[in-house]
Amino acid sequence: MRMYDIIMKKRNGGELTKDEIDFFIEGYTKGDIPDYQVAALMMAIYFRKMTEAETLALTMAMADSGDRLDLSGIRGVKVDKHSTGGVGDKTSLALAPMVAACGIPVAKMSGRGLGHTGGTIDKLESFPGFTTALTTERFIENVNRIGMAIMGQTADLAPADKKLYALRDVTATVDNLSLIASSIMSKKLAAGADAIVLDVKTGSGAFMKQEAEARALAEEMVKIGKNAGRRTVAVISDMDQPLGFAVGNALEVKEAIDTLEGHGPADFLELCLTLGSQMLMAGGKAESAREAEGMLRGVIADGSALRKLAEFVEAQGGDSRVVYHPELLPEAAITLPVEAPKSGYVTRIVCDEVGICSLILGGGRETKESEIDLSVGLVLRKKVGDYVESGEPLAVIHANDAGKAEQARTRYLKACTIAGDAPERTPFIKDILR
Ligand code: URA
Repeated sequence: MRMYDIIMKKRNGGELTKDEIDFFIEGYTKGDIPDYQVAALMMAIYFRKMTEAETLALTMAMADSGDRLDLSGIRGVKVDKHSTGGVGDKTSLALAPMVAACGIPVAKMSGRGLGHTGGTIDKLESFPGFTTALTTERFIENVNRIGMAIMGQTADLAPADKKLYALRDVTATVDNLSLIASSIMSKKLAAGADAIVLDVKTGSGAFMKQEAEARALAEEMVKIGKNAGRRTVAVISDMDQPLGFAVGNALEVKEAIDTLEGHGPADFLELCLTLGSQMLMAGGKAESAREAEGMLRGVIADGSALRKLAEFVEAQGGDSRVVYHPELLPEAAITLPVEAPKSGYVTRIVCDEVGICSLILGGGRETKESEIDLSVGLVLRKKVGDYVESGEPLAVIHANDAGKAEQARTRYLKACTIAGDAPERTPFIKDILR
């Protein structure tokens, strides 16, 4: 078999066989096939697209390119959750303890933030001492003992995807549905869960800006999951403005704690209840979304979800007192209100711009090596649809540098639109695909 022939076949619109896909993924992972040939193939795929069978074969080849996590040592149905990424997306911090408190084992691999989107691992490191560098043995032991554990992605999980994603990133071949779907699903399959609940974001802070694109991606991933023998559900949720009010690592941890204490933002709670219900149903703990929602609200009301968070933080070396005393979280020295220049309804908050404000303040990474400041970020005071008086704060900036605070304030003002008429309300949860 020759890589040249594979590139030509796809360039001419042919359908690649499983053997051809296995050949190029194996050769690329080993370093036998050079970047330039794979880049050419990615561009041919970008234009010619892939069939369902090709997409599945690519996903499986990437999932098998390294180690697969063996979760068979964990009792019960393991349900994973994955978000396609957004701004203020602290969902795992509240959802994982809620679901674990309901008796579903949560064995989750998470990543760090890059660019305008945040990452669960960075947020968790706001708990002093917390580590996600667990051995697989300790990860499994923690899930069996307390019901949940979160670890960083091991280097050898779907290494083909790691290489391919880096290549796509610099060759303008990221935004192809089959390539995105296979990239995400290969990692999820290698991570070993029995069922997968996907949170596919849509809007200005999401990867898929248009709802139709998000739906197509969700459909593709559900099909892959099903074909791979994993129960897979996709929730399509809004990311046209930040999720909840807090954006920034420690600020988001505080909001997750508030939510587990029963006073979280409405949109964030709705998302946790929706995803959590799907996880409880996939794990066989509830028959209906209504029953599942009742259980999830129950573990918030009786404090067991908050206690689960504390147990989890403690089990991974963190200071669990912070769960009950969030004032111990890292705090920024400066708070600067972003005052509304006029009265009216907030009709738009360009979501990725808010992520960039947090990045400017030092809360995100420009490159993988950047150090981040866990204390900085923004807390929104007004969301889309809210009325604001001239001079009232639209948001409050938390910073450690006055110059950066001012830069973020100017940028945040530009990201907000205030108008005379209230905008039309759109549903926060767009759809659930099974
Ligand atoms: N996230 C991934 O993991 N892969 C992609 O291709 C795009 C987003």
